[in-house]
Amino acid sequence: MKLVLLGPPGAGKGTQAARLENYYSIPHISTGDIFRKAIKNETELGQKAKQYLDQGKLVPDEVTNGIVKERLAQSDCKDGFILDGFPRTVNQAEALSQILNDLDYELDAAVNIKVNDDEVVKRLSGRRICDDCGATYHVDFNPPQEEGVCDQCGGELYQRDDDTPDTIKERLEVYYDKTAAVVDYYKDRGSLLKIDGEQSLDEVFADLKENLKEI
Ligand code: AP5
Ligand code: ZN
Repeated sequence: MKLVLLGPPGAGKGTQAARLENYYSIPHISTGDIFRKAIKNETELGQKAKQYLDQGKLVPDEVTNGIVKERLAQSDCKDGFILDGFPRTVNQAEALSQILNDLDYELDAAVNIKVNDDEVVKRLSGRRICDDCGATYHVDFNPPQEEGVCDQCGGELYQRDDDTPDTIKERLEVYYDKTAAVVDYYKDRGSLLKIDGEQSLDEVFADLKENLKEI
């Protein structure tokens, strides 16, 4: 299964991608996670990306496209992958088509997880992430058993630097300005699948599995 997950920040792309990764046994590739890891490890990529993530702006396409090209060429993507947070511009969508073409791969679907802006703000404001294993929680919607501690590995939970009110607002603006058009890109090519992201976590996952079964 070769998938792209689309949707505004906080739509639940990362949450559902983690479940799909388990379900289909295919890698979950998040460009946001790749950038955050590079920033944490203070690599050259991290130095390039940091200013953009801090401001909620997009890392330039030429940097991002190159990373995805390299990642998709790895052998574990042969039987499938879930791209989360890429493509985010029409230029990235075109680059992805070229990358897939070169690898002789075909995309099965671009899944658009739809969520309204108020819900996005609620979800991102309450999001907590495990510093050790990356598991995602929400203080109200998906709380850990013990406050601040990961259920899965006992790691400490933290709040992302870009989950602040001003940066959330900027990320939403960037989404409408640059990323919303990517939905039309896939719609025009007949590969768009729409999912109502305003259901519970389990309902969204059930809906995804049901719709993907038919592909
Ligand atoms: P990225 O990491 O991709 O962030 P994003 O797109 O803003 O998406 P999020 O990770 O915030 O949200 P999500 O949809 O994964 O939601 P989640 O599952 O966590 O990108 C960050 C930055 O990196 C960008 O701003 C940019 O600078 C850079 N970048 C990344 N990719 C790039 C690219 N391609 N080009 C250029 N720059 C790029 O869920 C959110 C919360 O809601 C969680 O707390 C979760 O528990 C909760 N939740 C999830 N589902 C539900 C539900 N159904 N009901 C209730 N709560 C729910
Ligand atoms: Zn953990």
